[in-house]
Amino acid sequence: MAGVVGVGAAVWPFIDQMRPDASTLALSSVEVDVSSLTPGMSLTVKWRGKPVFIRNRTPEEIESSQKVPLDELKDPLARNANLASDAQATDIDRSAGAGKENWLVMVGVCTHLGCIPLGQQGEYGGWFCPCHGSVYDTSGRIRKGPAPENMAVPVFSFISDTKIRVG
Ligand code: FES
Repeated sequence: MAGVVGVGAAVWPFIDQMRPDASTLALSSVEVDVSSLTPGMSLTVKWRGKPVFIRNRTPEEIESSQKVPLDELKDPLARNANLASDAQATDIDRSAGAGKENWLVMVGVCTHLGCIPLGQQGEYGGWFCPCHGSVYDTSGRIRKGPAPENMAVPVFSFISDTKIRVG
């Protein structure tokens, strides 16, 4: 009997360490207030150790992305974790969707070797990665340079008109 109690005492501390604490759980998603972002403004939040770019795109940025024929794209897939894996890289499917196509949310990591691209730079007015010259357009699709894929759109949703939850 004494042996059984002893085993129990040894096992419980181990199980407690396996349980994620509140701070770990909080990091799995992040809520972002976007009410101060007028068209043409962006912010970057950290999510699971990576930068996530949130941009309120201008009508010109949306239009320039919308008018690109899909067969000109280097990566034809949306890379949008909220959609089917074979969804096409149309502007709407890169954005937050119908009625919210001004919002672009994406992991701000170059798909070549992981540098953080600079916003509103490069010949498409989107993002430019200075490490090896990858150029992304205004919906974060790779257009030139060595990066193989569009920047990833993470799981996210609007939890109110002015708040986005990423993750
Ligand atoms: Fe961006 Fe190489 S890491 S172009």
